Amino acid sequence: MKFPRCDQTDAWAALKGHFEAHGRDFDLREAFARDPDRFDAMGVQAPEVFADLSKNKLDTATMQFLLDLARQCQIEPRRDALLRGDPINFTEGRAVLHTALRAPRGKAPFSDDVHGVLDAMLTYVETVRDTAASGIRHIVNIGIGGSDLGPQMVVPALDAFAHPGIKMHFVSNVDGHDITPVLRGLKASETLFIIASKTFTTQETMANAMVAKAWFQAQGGTDTAKHFVATTTNVKAAAEFGITTTFGFWDWVGGRYSLWSAIGLPIALAIGADNFRAMLAGAYAMDQHFATAPLAKNLPILLGLIDVWYRNFHGYGSRSVALYHQGLKRLPAYLQQLEMESNGKCVDLDGASVPFGTSPVVWGEPGTNGQHAYFQMLHQGTDAIPVEFILVKHPTHTLTDLHTKLLANGLAQSQALMLGKTTAQAQAEKAPPTASKELDAPTLARHRTFPGNRPSTTLVLDKLTPSSLGALIALYEHRVFTSGALWGINSFDQWGVELGKALCNDLLPRLTSGDVTGLDASTAGLLTRLRS
Ligand code: F6P
Repeated sequence: MKFPRCDQTDAWAALKGHFEAHGRDFDLREAFARDPDRFDAMGVQAPEVFADLSKNKLDTATMQFLLDLARQCQIEPRRDALLRGDPINFTEGRAVLHTALRAPRGKAPFSDDVHGVLDAMLTYVETVRDTAASGIRHIVNIGIGGSDLGPQMVVPALDAFAHPGIKMHFVSNVDGHDITPVLRGLKASETLFIIASKTFTTQETMANAMVAKAWFQAQGGTDTAKHFVATTTNVKAAAEFGITTTFGFWDWVGGRYSLWSAIGLPIALAIGADNFRAMLAGAYAMDQHFATAPLAKNLPILLGLIDVWYRNFHGYGSRSVALYHQGLKRLPAYLQQLEMESNGKCVDLDGASVPFGTSPVVWGEPGTNGQHAYFQMLHQGTDAIPVEFILVKHPTHTLTDLHTKLLANGLAQSQALMLGKTTAQAQAEKAPPTASKELDAPTLARHRTFPGNRPSTTLVLDKLTPSSLGALIALYEHRVFTSGALWGINSFDQWGVELGKALCNDLLPRLTSGDVTGLDASTAGLLTRLRS
């Protein structure tokens, strides 16, 4: 079935006119002054996540145009095709069914397969978590990309739910500086290695797995069956590596969408079977919202539409995520793969070049740390960058004073970005005593002026729990689907990683032999320098 690309619709042309008339010069402060109900009108409640969209550069009219765009791009039939398991990842001939991994039994395709592995995995998890019997105190997940970033993000986020007697470690990079400090201090008898790789061929993971196996044997470890487990679609390759305990998954689970599958084993080992199921249930609730909520109240679709509005009309090239919860410190890296590997594409479904921007750069740090680093640029730099704040109402610790300060900081930042400070306001303030006496007041005030009118979205969770985190991640997945669908690209392949892999395979033996025949002068020169 052929779907229209966003720029081929009437709604796109209408949005262009609307942008010139009302979008380019939209002023958030004026919008709030005009409409005292703006916060109420632009708040959206989805399962576990409330979104304040009111500090975005749009109004009801903009939203109507964007919703027209979504309809004309047939977002609902496309969403239904995703959820039904149509082979929408057509360049790899695969369905995209991560939603089936979190659906209750009987509610999605491949249910028996999914629940069979899930039940087996969670039974296994409880045997390992019985540390008195298993003796396992350390778990090392060896994987990269989607076989690393999900668990590496979720485990610290759900630290309050984690087994106190098991320490999780993550090794991903083929750089020996990654695995060396992890292995230092571990005992073979107390360590479980998870070799996580969808393909079980990825260079980095296989190399680190070999290092781990050699380390284990050098430590006198013999019971490989107990101390090594694999999570993969390539059960045969895992067996050839010598692993007998394997939890499988399927080619219709994309790497960056795989934390719900056996790739989530480190998560389940950390938080236990019930909490893992709660995470799946939270994601399923968001899936139901995505599948059934009317477009105007469908949060992933609204966020995807705002992403298109900013990327293609306002021309914003990046989005910053500001996480006011330290446990979410790895969320930016996770979102980078989710969004940039999914939507970093320059051809449409027909292979034609797309004449507009696709994936923005996604980046960020936990608040308040980011405030003392790059927020200067967000407030006074030359580029406007939409910021997404994530605030969590209740902490899982008891340091309420710290938490109140944290929330005040998050609120203050989105407020400051929007309100800014005029030069007159700056001049009316008392000048800092350290300012040069030769500096005249208007000049100093210019330095202390904030342009304001910088947009942000604030997502609010009641508490960071397995369920709310599951819902939050699913929200992001469906939002990325939405913008990718409108752009008319395949969000589910990743051919862009292949060229570097192939060239690396060519260069690897050359680093040993020194043969630079046929190489460009720069690569040849660098290779020679690295060998000498
Ligand atoms: O970076 C490319 C990629 O294929 C990702 O999409 C994937 O998550 C990662 O490599 C790891 O692949 P695997 O799980 O097969 O080792």
